[in-house]
Amino acid sequence: MLIKKPDEIKSSELTDESVYKSRRRFLSAIAAATGLSIGGGYLLSGNAVGKPESNAKSDDARFADLPDGPYSTDEEVSEYSDVTTYNNFYELGTSKEAPARNAHQLITQPWSVTVSGECDKPGVYNLEDILDKQPLEDRIYRLRCVETWSAVIPWVGFSLADTLKRFQPNSKAKYVQFVTIHDPENLKTQNTRVLDWPYREGLRIDEAMHPLATLAVGMYGRILPNQNGAPLRLVVPWKYGFKSIKSIVAIHFTNEEPEATWNMLQPSEYGFYANVNPAVSHPRWSQSKERRLGEWLKRETLPFNGYAEQVAGLYSGMDLKKFF
Ligand code: MTE
Repeated sequence: MLIKKPDEIKSSELTDESVYKSRRRFLSAIAAATGLSIGGGYLLSGNAVGKPESNAKSDDARFADLPDGPYSTDEEVSEYSDVTTYNNFYELGTSKEAPARNAHQLITQPWSVTVSGECDKPGVYNLEDILDKQPLEDRIYRLRCVETWSAVIPWVGFSLADTLKRFQPNSKAKYVQFVTIHDPENLKTQNTRVLDWPYREGLRIDEAMHPLATLAVGMYGRILPNQNGAPLRLVVPWKYGFKSIKSIVAIHFTNEEPEATWNMLQPSEYGFYANVNPAVSHPRWSQSKERRLGEWLKRETLPFNGYAEQVAGLYSGMDLKKFF
């Protein structure tokens, strides 16, 4: 089996992006020798599942011929090389370049997710259990960081709502919290106090049940690179990127607004809701414009990152300057 490290992938090979642009149909160039069939046989996987003892990922694994998820954009997708080398993942370092460099620090196998709190099916679920019978989709969404950079990313993922429903949240589940892996032995930055580890984030339950809210396991038709939050991350495209928590190991249903890392660190700068809102400046910079990765000219930032039609109703009657 041909195994390539991410840095050996030439961008010409990723003209697969043009395939996305025409029909977003992505067929395997190299069928992986060992195939694991998940979610209706969509995933052809290489050693990511074939060799659990290894943290190496096979980037020849392909997600072939997936259906389109809801509200995918036709906008030009960002370059794979940009999206995988300009990251925020403090567990792997605080500069934009560090996460790609330190990606090996994140051990993704085996991986399980602990589900707890206000639900009828708590427990420890293997990643395979979570993916089981879960149809994967191409979901091409804008990502807008609170720092004013943005990207368009073709995620491979599935509905967060469908996943959460399998755990049967009860009527007290008003919110859901997500927690990132805590592994200071390997994730070296977790030995510093730059953030209050583990990274955690939360959504109101109706936000979490919105069809745009996504759990991603891949992007650009490939298994998620570690620096982008392997093996399972949240994607909430109408909120600032810090809500899209990476490398999730726990999901907790709760009656009260849960702790969220950036909000706890600096509540005057990072609200719990964190909806993209060009009308509400960050105390230290304007949010009215953004720079898309790979572009020089800035563009206008849109309310709810361009998803107002889909999500504004979740906040009717709320003062979005107060609940920012
Ligand atoms: N999740 C964890 N666990 N740790 C982080 O530092 N950074 C967040 C979010 N999820 C972060 C995280 C921020 S600020 C952004 S903008 C996005 O991840 C960036 O995702 P990307 O690097 O895949 O573009």
